[in-house]
Amino acid sequence: MGSGKSTAVRELGGSDADDLVESAAGKPIAEIFREEGEAAFRALEEQTIVLALGGGAVTSPAVRDALGDTLTIWLDVDVDTCWKRVKGSDRPLAQDETAFRRLYEERRSLYAEVADVVAKDAHDVVLAVAGVHVERGALQRIGELVPGDGPVALVSDPKVAGIHGMDAQLALGSRLAETHELPPGEEAKTLGALDRLWQDLRLDRSGTIVALGGGCTTDAAGFAAATYLREIAWTPVPTSLVAQVDAAIGGKTAIDLPQGKNLVGAFHWPVRTVIDPALLETLPEPQRLEGMAEVVKTGLLAGEPLWELSDDELVRRCAAFKAAICLRDPHERGERAVLNLGHTFAHALEAAAGYDGVTHGRAVALGLLAALRLSGRETDVVENVLRPQPVRVDRERAWQAMRRDKKARDGEIRLVLLGADGPETGVVLPEADVRRELDRLIA
Ligand SMILES: NC(=O)c1ccc[n+]([C@@H]2O[C@H](COP(=O)([O-])OP(=O)(O)OC[C@H]3O[C@@H](n4cnc5c(N)ncnc54)[C@H](O)[C@@H]3O)[C@@H](O)[C@H]2O)c1
Ligand SMILES: [Zn+2]
Repeated sequence: MGSGKSTAVRELGGSDADDLVESAAGKPIAEIFREEGEAAFRALEEQTIVLALGGGAVTSPAVRDALGDTLTIWLDVDVDTCWKRVKGSDRPLAQDETAFRRLYEERRSLYAEVADVVAKDAHDVVLAVAGVHVERGALQRIGELVPGDGPVALVSDPKVAGIHGMDAQLALGSRLAETHELPPGEEAKTLGALDRLWQDLRLDRSGTIVALGGGCTTDAAGFAAATYLREIAWTPVPTSLVAQVDAAIGGKTAIDLPQGKNLVGAFHWPVRTVIDPALLETLPEPQRLEGMAEVVKTGLLAGEPLWELSDDELVRRCAAFKAAICLRDPHERGERAVLNLGHTFAHALEAAAGYDGVTHGRAVALGLLAALRLSGRETDVVENVLRPQPVRVDRERAWQAMRRDKKARDGEIRLVLLGADGPETGVVLPEADVRRELDRLIA
């Protein structure tokens, strides 16, 4: 009672259980029906409905029984907070403080017994439903954290393998069946690199790919998992800030084509995502700044200064924010588009630079400036935290790239802006205004 569980469930999209079913299955409902039949769909539906159970529900053995294999999350909030929220309400069991406190103590052991995950707030609930585990030191326990007991193929990039590979191998212990290295950076996201990985993998369908590295490693290894043997399980263990707050959350995997980035890929939700913020301690400063651009974007969308938090908290909150949106819109048909705040401008700048010389983070920082200005907002946060410098690219080339951006429909540029009631997608503004703001980002 008073733990905030209803709020947490609303955060997960409450009524739209279909979206949750789709993200759990990793495919549209029509496809589940076609390939596995209605019974399979109903079974999934049963598994993925998110319910806020009443505080006393678990005192019934029948309810405890029914919870069975269901992911059960204990939202463990201290008794003072709960009492503050419910006192003075008309809830029958919250009329007398002493009785309330006694009830709270009595039920705790039952909660501990049925819970698969203990959450301290709504963000933790979202992370648990999304299968995202955030814990300092989690890499040392990766052997237990990868679901199941089948064999594991560890995939990483050469640099991360050199720093954290041995810890991962030791922690995987007897589950480790094979290790693979992808080339560094975007080279990992090429057909050549994928082809080698596909051919080197020896796992059968009971196996799990563990992807240890930045966003390039998780994107490529996740796509390998989506395609190898027509799909096997995977667990990203993101090591860069970009990957911990963005790339490893939401189930998108991809490789690049010469024609553009991320043009071939799949939605493939990981069986679990394991985030260890301690891994960020070895991340070089420029790579950290890349991730901070997405952190500032997330904070602006959430309306909270998430960039001011400690690493552990910043990663937890950003991951939860993205996970909630992706659970509600797993296949990017609607709401997920808000995550493109600042990105229409960023993609134009990156394209104008020929994807060379302008990093994504720097381009996003500039794109956020433009989005804030067009939203009539102050830009000091972006300036202070990200210190973006204008880029030297051809103005006309950037403008043409912006008009070609895949979010442009019917020749109109559609932007994500921040309105009075939060983010708005599909905003069309006079082209002259958009072009003026693009020009201001170019040296
Ligand atoms: N799937 C998605 O939803 C999504 C979202 C955002 C970005 N992405 C993709 O992510 C990629 C960028 O990810 P990135 O910025 O992590 O790049 P990256 O994977 O190339 O990593 C950046 C560099 O940091 C190093 N590194 C990573 N972790 C480290 C650590 N703990 N200590 C020391 N060095 C470390 C890597 O070796 C690499 O040199 C892009 O390809 C982008 O398209 C995907
Ligand atoms: Zn981005």
